[in-house]
Amino acid sequence: MVVGAAQGTRNPMSKVLVVGAAGMLGTDVMSVLEHHNPRGVTRGELDITVADQVQRAVQGFDVVVNCAAYTRVDDAETDRDQAFAINSDGVANLARAAKTEGSRLIHLSTDYVFDGQGTTPLAEDAPTGGLSVYGESKRAGEENLLEIYSSGGIILRTSWLYGLHGPSFPRTILKAGREREQLQVVNDQVGQPTWTLDVAHMISMVIDSSVSSGVFHATNAGQATWWDFAQRIFRAAGWYPERIVPTTTDKFPRPAPRPAWSVLGHDNWAAYGFPAPRDWTEAFDEAWATQLHTLITEDS
Ligand SMILES: NC(=O)c1ccc[n+]([C@@H]2O[C@H](COP(=O)([O-])OP(=O)(O)OC[C@H]3O[C@@H](n4cnc5c(N)ncnc54)[C@H](OP(=O)(O)O)[C@@H]3O)[C@@H](O)[C@H]2O)c1
Repeated sequence: MVVGAAQGTRNPMSKVLVVGAAGMLGTDVMSVLEHHNPRGVTRGELDITVADQVQRAVQGFDVVVNCAAYTRVDDAETDRDQAFAINSDGVANLARAAKTEGSRLIHLSTDYVFDGQGTTPLAEDAPTGGLSVYGESKRAGEENLLEIYSSGGIILRTSWLYGLHGPSFPRTILKAGREREQLQVVNDQVGQPTWTLDVAHMISMVIDSSVSSGVFHATNAGQATWWDFAQRIFRAAGWYPERIVPTTTDKFPRPAPRPAWSVLGHDNWAAYGFPAPRDWTEAFDEAWATQLHTLITEDS
């Protein structure tokens, strides 16, 4: 377990820069951090692969939240240089700039840094070993951050993210459910469906705490397979879940291998006194009621 200083409270107003602010998570982070009046920058305004741009952009901020990433997992297999430029070198640029400025850098990472094996929740300090180019590039980004700025770098690993503002599993399943009578969904990958708004609130809690460094898992609790998740989405939509047939990963070969086990533990989160993340089912039900029900009829 990774343990650090006890949680306290900082000045309620921090000057916060959100990088990758137009992405699925970045959009929700901007709305949840409204009380800090954050500055959000899109890729067009700040390209994290350009070091001097990054140095200038970070000036004057107490906290930098990095939601920018190369996230196209399958494309990364044939686009290695870009994936590493953004997910590894880009994070190094942010770490150097944040260190110069003395700002805390909250960096979003992923379950894909692990090797995808396990039967119990993965601890924050469990050995890493990415399966895919994307996973390796994100792992390299974590390593850069810890090497360059271990005293001010905070890594939040999340997984199976869904939200209103991007392509996501609920959107894909609802579209498939409108188009086909029967769907096959894999039932041999286990993870934690996680609502972007819950991660955004976890980021907000870290900003408002005295945490200055460490590795945390920012996911909803519990565990599910993609088939379990698809069933819950169908039930929420009022559709027969029997239309979703369980299948196995080997029937759907993809360019990048998928982890079989992506359940992350929250010991370090608890050790700092943060409230336990809620179960993924509770988070999904609220996400559905407040936002995702609109996707049933969405043209896509
Ligand atoms: N989605 C998931 O299921 C999932 C799971 C685990 C972890 N994560 C992690 O969570 C974080 C947020 O993911 P997300 O789903 O919100 O991703 P996303 O929707 O793809 O957003 C990423 C954002 O980064 C921007 N970006 C890409 N390259 C950039 C660059 N060189 N400089 C500045 N901005 C750049 C993208 O802009 P363009 O669109 O213009 O390229 C996009 O707006 C990432 O660190 C990701 O690795 C995601």
